[in-house]
Amino acid sequence: RTFRIAAVPADGVGKEVVAAGRAVLDALAEGSRGSADAFAFDWEEFPWGCGYYERTGEMIDAGGLERLKDFDAIYFGAVGWPTVPDHISLWGLRLKICQTFDQWANVRPMQFLPGVQSPLRKADDTHLDWVVIRENSEGEYAGLGGRNFSGRGQGSEVAVQSALFTEVGCERIMRFAFDLARTRDRRKVSSVTKSNAQQYGMVLWDDVFKRVSADYPDVETESVLVDAMSAKFVLQPEDLSVVVASNLNADILSDLGSALSGSLGLAASANLNPERRFPSMFEPVHGSAPDIAGQGLANPIGAVGSGALMLDHFGLPEQAARLRKAIETTTAAGILTRDVGGSASTEEVTKALIDALSS
Ligand code: NAI
Ligand code: MG
Repeated sequence: RTFRIAAVPADGVGKEVVAAGRAVLDALAEGSRGSADAFAFDWEEFPWGCGYYERTGEMIDAGGLERLKDFDAIYFGAVGWPTVPDHISLWGLRLKICQTFDQWANVRPMQFLPGVQSPLRKADDTHLDWVVIRENSEGEYAGLGGRNFSGRGQGSEVAVQSALFTEVGCERIMRFAFDLARTRDRRKVSSVTKSNAQQYGMVLWDDVFKRVSADYPDVETESVLVDAMSAKFVLQPEDLSVVVASNLNADILSDLGSALSGSLGLAASANLNPERRFPSMFEPVHGSAPDIAGQGLANPIGAVGSGALMLDHFGLPEQAARLRKAIETTTAAGILTRDVGGSASTEEVTKALIDALSS
C-alpha cells in the first residue's frame, strides 16, 4: 500500500524534525519491501507557515484546505515565529486544520525512554506511561468572544473569551478515552476539570463523565481538579494511565507530562478524526522552538514518534512497534540531543534511528 502524506513542516524546528521524521519513515517503508505488510509513502510538501504569511498575507492559501482533504494523513511540524503574532499563526494554520477536519481527539502518549533522565526518575522502579487525551474541537479554544465590550475606548477595554462545552463533544472524547483504557494494562481513566471554579461547562463535563463511566464498569475512574492533577503528575506518576481533559487543561498538562518524561522534544501526538471522514494530523507536541531553530539541536523523537502514531492509525501496529523499538535502541545507546543531556545533532540522532531500524 502507498499512503499519500501531506507534509507541513511550517516554522522553526518544525522544518528540521519533519525532515528527520520523513527520512526515518521512508527508511522504515524501504525495510518493509517484500514483506506481507509492505508499504510506501508518497509525500507532498507544502510551504505554509509564518514565512508564507509574510510573503502572501495568509497562513495557508485559499485552496489549501481543500487540497489536504485528499491525503491519507497530514504530517505536521510546528507553527509560530516571533515576527507573526502567535494567535494569528496558530489559528491561521494548525487550529484551522484541526477544526476543518473535525480532528476532535488529540492523543498524546508519554513514557520514560531508556537512557533518558527525567526529573521524576529517582528510583529505577518509577513508572511513567500515560496517554493524555485532549478534547480538540471546543472547550476553551472554541474561539468565542471578542474585544472592546465596554465600548468606552482606550484604557477601559473589556475582552470576553468564552469556553464552549457540548454534551456530544464531552461524551465522544470520554468514550474515546475509555475505549483506549480498555486496551491498556492499567485500565484507568482520570478526568480533569476545574469544576469548582468554572461552574457551567466543567460541571457538565463532570456529569457526562459520571454517566459515561457507568458503561465501563471494568475501568477504574477518578475526577481530579487541574491544579491537583498538576501536583499528581509530579508526585504520583505511577497512579495514572489515561488522562482525559479539555482543550486548554490537556494542552498544559501534556507539556508538563512530556517535560517530566525527559523533554518536550520527546512527545508525540495525533489529532484524530476518529470517523475517518477527513485526514488526521500527526505532529510533535512541541512548538517551533525559535531559541534553537536552525542549529541542528532539535530532538526529532517527538516527530518520529508521531510517525508511529500515524502507522497505528493506518492499521500497521507492527511497523509502529518497529519504529518505537528503534527509538528505544537509540536513546539506550546514549545518542541524545542536548535537551535530553546529550551532544548529538538532529542529523546524528536521525541516522542512529535509521541504523537501528536495519539492525
Ligand atoms: P516550544 O515548544 O517551541 O519551546 C519550548 C522549549 O522547549 C524551548 O526551550 C525549546 O527550545 C524546547 N524545545 C521544543 N521543541 C524541542 C525539540 N524538538 N528539541 C529540543 N528542544 C525543544 O514552545 P514556545 O517557545 O512556547 O513556542 C514557540 C512557538 O511555537 C510559538 O510561536 C508558539 O505559538 C508555537 N507553538 C506551536 C505549536 C504547534 O504548532 N503545535 C505548539 C506550541 C507552540
Ligand atoms: Mg501546547
